[in-house]
Amino acid sequence: MTQKEFQTQINDLLKQARQDQAPDWQVKYLGKKGLFKQLSATIKDISDKKAAGQLLNQLKKDLEMLATQKSQAGTPTQESIDYTLPASDEPIGHLHPISQATEKIVSIFAELGFVRVRHPELDDDENVFGRLNMSPGHPARDEWETFFVAHPGKPGKNKIRWVMTPHTSNGQVHEMMRLRQPPIRMINITRTYRRQQDVTHTQMFHQFEGLMVDRDVNITHLKGVLDYFAREFYGPGTKSRIRPFHFQFTEPSFEIDFSCHLCGGTGKLPNGDKCKFCKSGWHEVGGAGMVHPNVLTACGLDPQEYSGFAFGWGIERTYTLQDHIQIDDIRDFYNGNLKFLQQF
Ligand code: PHE
Repeated sequence: MTQKEFQTQINDLLKQARQDQAPDWQVKYLGKKGLFKQLSATIKDISDKKAAGQLLNQLKKDLEMLATQKSQAGTPTQESIDYTLPASDEPIGHLHPISQATEKIVSIFAELGFVRVRHPELDDDENVFGRLNMSPGHPARDEWETFFVAHPGKPGKNKIRWVMTPHTSNGQVHEMMRLRQPPIRMINITRTYRRQQDVTHTQMFHQFEGLMVDRDVNITHLKGVLDYFAREFYGPGTKSRIRPFHFQFTEPSFEIDFSCHLCGGTGKLPNGDKCKFCKSGWHEVGGAGMVHPNVLTACGLDPQEYSGFAFGWGIERTYTLQDHIQIDDIRDFYNGNLKFLQQF
């Protein structure tokens, strides 16, 4: 082979190598049995070995440079990132709607000096009913579809009857017995349990209970607190209404309604249609009353000296009223369905 022919072969090889996109490029050109090695072997047929060696050295350098360029250009990350695309949406969690409502309720009552407490969800029947003026066997107990818990307890006549709290009113008893000394202003929020399950009831739900005990506390204080809550939770213009009712542990007792903030409490929408959300202008929410003297006495306070009011109702309902939501099945709050929960 002449020097010229050798030169041509080198040029051809370099040209081919530049255009070649073979995935095994490195092996094909620079591998042990690669094209460079094959061409180098032909040097034995060349007369001017020195000049040929220099050409081969240069070829090797060029091939190595090409190899580096090709490996960089071929890095998949460089090709696949398009910086102009919108960022991918990572899912961000949020508080459960009932936790959102709980936080809001706590902060509203905190403004009035009510301190959040939490009393047991599994409690002595005596705190849930007995000290609330419902002695064993009292028919009023039937209203609270209670779960009783089988528990061996201590032998003897002081055996405790455990119940899953069907309301948060046991918190009144715990707070009065714990503090002994008014003024008391508490807001007790816990899970509550009742033996009922359908589209509007869950066996586990949440209640909050307010209690204020001091000297000279009267119904106007209760009404003022309810109005304040209605305004703060549902917006300006929302009013509360109390209607006579009966609870064993309050006297007098009331049911509480809030005016419908969708129709402004009129029952009619601005276009004259009947408000479908409330029908009558009001929503019934819960119970309230002045703490019964028997309850004050059972909890160690003198009813001649102190008086108080209490109220309590469900958080689920409080929450859904807020956004005019009508939930088809209230159990959806607790069945872990993210598609449902992400809406709130
Ligand atoms: N505990 C009552 C209920 O579950 C509500 C209530 C609380 C009524 C406080 C009066 C005073 O229905």
